[in-house]
Formats: sequence, structure tokens, C-alpha cells
Amino acid sequence: MLTIRPATLEDLGAITEIYNEAILKTVATFDTEPKTLEEQEVWFTNHVPRYPILVVEWDGLIVGWASLSIWSDRCAYSDTAEISLYVKEEHRGKGIGRKLLEAIIQEGQKTGLHTVIARIAEGNEASIRLFASVGFTHIGIMKEVGRKFGKLLDVYLMQKIYNDD
Ligand SMILES: CC(C)(COP(=O)(O)OP(=O)(O)OC[C@H]1O[C@@H](n2cnc3c(N)ncnc32)[C@H](O)[C@@H]1OP(=O)(O)O)[C@@H](O)C(=O)NCCC(=O)NCCS
Repeated sequence: MLTIRPATLEDLGAITEIYNEAILKTVATFDTEPKTLEEQEVWFTNHVPRYPILVVEWDGLIVGWASLSIWSDRCAYSDTAEISLYVKEEHRGKGIGRKLLEAIIQEGQKTGLHTVIARIAEGNEASIRLFASVGFTHIGIMKEVGRKFGKLLDVYLMQKIYNDD
């Protein structure tokens, strides 16, 4: 049984484990070193309540998380957020990511955000298709802005504006 709910501090270990797996194995994040729980506590504290974090449980086990983060600390950007979405490797491809993505978009609307931005590394075609299918449009490419696993990477920018629907 699948449950999507707001994250609590008790979930931070599971969230961090999923994120660290992505840091070490994928270009989905441009972090390169695993995060400590202390660093994650700062990240968590900066989110609530305007910028939500959701977790998804599958039979009581946390198998993914999603968040909306402050895009910039300059105040005029306060209605803009950046999205993060991660599903544990062995649970991908079962529809969990799509449900979580739909849920975090709804949360952003509830908290009064105007727009959400996704930065997706080149080659992550599954994510580009997934985000497009929930109303994100392509707004540009930042060329060769990251280097991970010895390769220079472009970043594909996508955006959803809530009242465009
Ligand atoms: C991106 C991610 C969250 C998707 O989660 P998921 O649970 O595997 O996704 P779903 O099973 O809900 O599938 C969503 C869509 O992506 C497609 N998809 C998923 N995995 C795919 C793959 N490996 N290749 C091609 N398409 C894929 C599915 O076909 C599906 O489309 P559909 O609903 O029209 O069939 C997950 O792969 C992940 O955590 N990846 C690493 C982190 C990441 O890339 N995050 C996104 C950038 S912020």
C-alpha cells in the first residue's frame, strides 16, 4: 500500500539514504559527496512550512521523497521554488515517481507558490518526459555547467507556472 505524506525529522535517515544513493550513482544531483545527517537537518529546517517535503511509503518503508526548495534567497524570488524528486533504485518504474511528483506540485499550489523550476541533467530522458507530462515546459539549456563521473554535463531547465493551467 502506497502512502504520500509530509516528511518529519524522523524520516531524515531514510531520505538521506535515498539521496546519498543518487549522489553516488547518478547525475540527477550535482552533489558529489554523501550528505551527513547534520547537513540534512539544516536542509530540512530550511524547508518548512512554505517549502514542503513529502515522503512516499510503500508497505511502511520510505521509498522516495520530493521537495520544493527556495530558488534564491533574494526576496523577489520567494514565490519560485525548485523541485527535487527521488525514488529508491529498486522501486523505480512502478508509478511511484509520478504520484509523488503530482503530490508535491499540489502542495506547492496550496502554499501559494507561483512557479516551480526543475533542473535536469542531460541524459535523464525519463525525468524530462515525466516532468513534461505534468505540465512542465522546456525553458532552456545551461551548457556544460556540471562535471560528474569525469564528464561535462548540460542542464535542461523546465518550468511550470501554476495559473497557466
Ligand atoms: C525520475 C524518478 C523519480 C522517476 O521515478 P519512477 O518511480 O521510476 O517513475 P514512474 O515509475 O512513476 O514513471 C514515470 C514515467 O517515467 C518513465 N520512466 C521511468 N523510468 C524510466 C526509464 N528508466 N526509462 C524510460 N522511461 C522511464 C515511465 O515510463 C513513466 O511514464 P508513464 O507514466 O507515462 O509510463 C526516478 O527514476 C529517480 O529517482 N531517478 C533518480 C533521480 C532523478 O532523476 N530525479 C529527477 C530529477 S530532479
